[in-house]
Amino acid sequence: FTVPAPVNEPVLNYSPGSRERSLLKEAINHAYSDQKDIPMYIGGQEVRTGQKVEIKPPHNHQTVIGHYHKGDKTHVQQAIDAALAAKADWEKMAWEQRAAIFLKAADLIAGPYRYKINAATMLGQSKNAYQAEIDSACELIDFLRFNVQYMTEIYAQQPISSPGSWNRVEQRPLEGFVFALTPFNFTAIAGNLPTSAALMGNVVVWKPANTQIYSAQVIMEVLREAGLPTGVINLIYVSGPDAGDVIFQHPDFAGIHFTGSTGVFQDIWKTIGNSIHKYKTYPRIVGETGGKDFILVHQSANLEVANTAIVRGAFEYQGQKCSAASRVYIAKSIWPELKEMIVRDLASLKVGPVEDFSNFVNAVIDEKSFDKLASAIDKANADPQSEIIAGGNYDKSKGYFIDPTVIVSQNPSSVTMCEELFGPVLTIYVYEDDQLDQTLELIDKTSIYALTGAVIASDRYIIEKATVALRNAAGNFYINDKCTGAVVGQQPFGGARGSGTNDKAGSMINLLRWVSPRTIKETL
Ligand code: NAD
Ligand code: ALA
Repeated sequence: FTVPAPVNEPVLNYSPGSRERSLLKEAINHAYSDQKDIPMYIGGQEVRTGQKVEIKPPHNHQTVIGHYHKGDKTHVQQAIDAALAAKADWEKMAWEQRAAIFLKAADLIAGPYRYKINAATMLGQSKNAYQAEIDSACELIDFLRFNVQYMTEIYAQQPISSPGSWNRVEQRPLEGFVFALTPFNFTAIAGNLPTSAALMGNVVVWKPANTQIYSAQVIMEVLREAGLPTGVINLIYVSGPDAGDVIFQHPDFAGIHFTGSTGVFQDIWKTIGNSIHKYKTYPRIVGETGGKDFILVHQSANLEVANTAIVRGAFEYQGQKCSAASRVYIAKSIWPELKEMIVRDLASLKVGPVEDFSNFVNAVIDEKSFDKLASAIDKANADPQSEIIAGGNYDKSKGYFIDPTVIVSQNPSSVTMCEELFGPVLTIYVYEDDQLDQTLELIDKTSIYALTGAVIASDRYIIEKATVALRNAAGNFYINDKCTGAVVGQQPFGGARGSGTNDKAGSMINLLRWVSPRTIKETL
């Protein structure tokens, strides 16, 4: 049961003049010029429907860089059929062979595909070079490599036997197919959801978000080159409802691996519940959903640490990270000094397209997201209980740009304090120094979510107090750090309450959801 011991993939440095930067720029130029024609992949066939949808970078939405072929319900059915046809052979394959395919995929991304997949993530999702490198290279590679390690640990766990009998547990794949339904915001997550289920011997129908198809297709190209047999993972581009209508009525539907918004997941859960009598087996329902992630800054905090946690936690990835800080609670006595630091740092963040590597904040994903954020800013402007102390401007003429915005709200139950906006808009509530207990209660009670959170304090008693009081308010809790940046193998990731089933992406817990154990007792 030994496989190469995984270590986290090192982050490449794209500093000016570096070889890495020039190779990435070359890949970006190529991505602009090659006008991709992106097919679906069903049963190993490239499927082109002729229903072409243009792909445009969110930061440069008048420029078409290619198109994908959109499918409909017949393609969903074909993908299920192809998956089920591939099932018997895939299940029979030795785990070492399955592992070798995904380890090879990791090596391909770490090597020849690195710049291509990073360019696809930069242009498709408007991420800067550093963010793309962490997402589509390092995190995806880590998921692939660490999951192989976790798989072997799961297979190695066996019950005890007694004289005259031998007990063992066989980790069977689920009986049917798995549906991977993935979000726009992380290439790594999109890649992890279908591959983790497939690694455990399952066959998969994968539907990515329409705004993430570009990098999804690169992942598929990598998996094919790594030797994934045809039909094991089928990649389709259809509307969510079209996919759901076919998949959730199918008797062989055995599980969903979802990451996306809370509302969509709740609707899916209801649909599955209403159809439960149709399935051969109870489907596994795994979902990582929304967040309203918090940072609490106590008066004992180191202000440099607090400032970095707030600025990086809220504005990296344009705040379009499920873990991004979007509500911050700051003790009044330190607020004037911290406010000055935050406003100063935000003024230095450059906003603009990803091709200029000095831009820190890029565009949000699409017009719908832009309009939602712009409307929240307008409402804050009109609200006598809110003040915008940084940013507040937005412009969608060329790309969907929202300036990093900080709202200070006197109402800890305001919409921007409680609801997920998913963008570079942060709301701060300043609390009286002697109101810590009430503030801990506000953090715990005013949001339906419980994904990530952080406490910044030097006082050990306060750290312990917050850690205990906020026990259920976050699935990933950080002390004197930002609430983002979980690394595979180091901080298993996921939240509870409205944030998901907390099956911890990149962990044994997650992989165990994709097997159905059979216990065998043999009398000798
Ligand atoms: P989304 O819910 O809009 O979409 C997710 C997927 O569901 C997409 O493939 C989409 O096409 C599909 N979908 C949408 N409506 C559907 C329907 N009615 N039926 C079936 N499928 C449907 O989410 P998004 O905008 O792509 O991603 C952002 C959200 O994801 C945010 O809420 C963010 O917090 C969350 N997220 C959570 C995590 C986490 O680990 N908790 C990680 C990343 C993103
Ligand atoms: N791994 C990412 C983070 O924790 C989602 O920010």
